[in-house]
Amino acid sequence: MELDDLYRRVIMDHYKNPRNRGTLDDEALTINLNNPTCGDRITLQLQVEGGVVKQAKFTGEGCSISMSSASMMTEAVKGKTTEEALALAEKFSSLVKGETAEFDELEDIEALSGVTKFPARIKCATLSWNALRKGIELQQQQ
Ligand code: FES
Repeated sequence: MELDDLYRRVIMDHYKNPRNRGTLDDEALTINLNNPTCGDRITLQLQVEGGVVKQAKFTGEGCSISMSSASMMTEAVKGKTTEEALALAEKFSSLVKGETAEFDELEDIEALSGVTKFPARIKCATLSWNALRKGIELQQQQ
């Protein structure tokens, strides 16, 4: 199987069977973001305790890239410290901009590296990760 086909399958699997889709209680940090160019939107909820992301859930509407990215991101950050989660967000940003080709932490996320060929889709891929960053920043200000 070609790598592109494999990546496409991974993306479609997360799109059709999203991990962590849903809501947390009202106490959870809630971040709403949208992609102004298309109107797609995400609501990310985080439960952070003792500097660790205990839970991450999302709802929203968007393209396969944005929604699969949210699914992968919520899987990746659960159990990580906020610093580790921010470092992952940085690394992901570098990956989709084509600045790094390595993403050892989670195979699935690497499937999004193909968006480097489609610059307009970078915003789709980073929507949920930007919500994550915003959420952690808010939490650190509390
Ligand atoms: Fe809207 Fe991808 S086209 S987030």
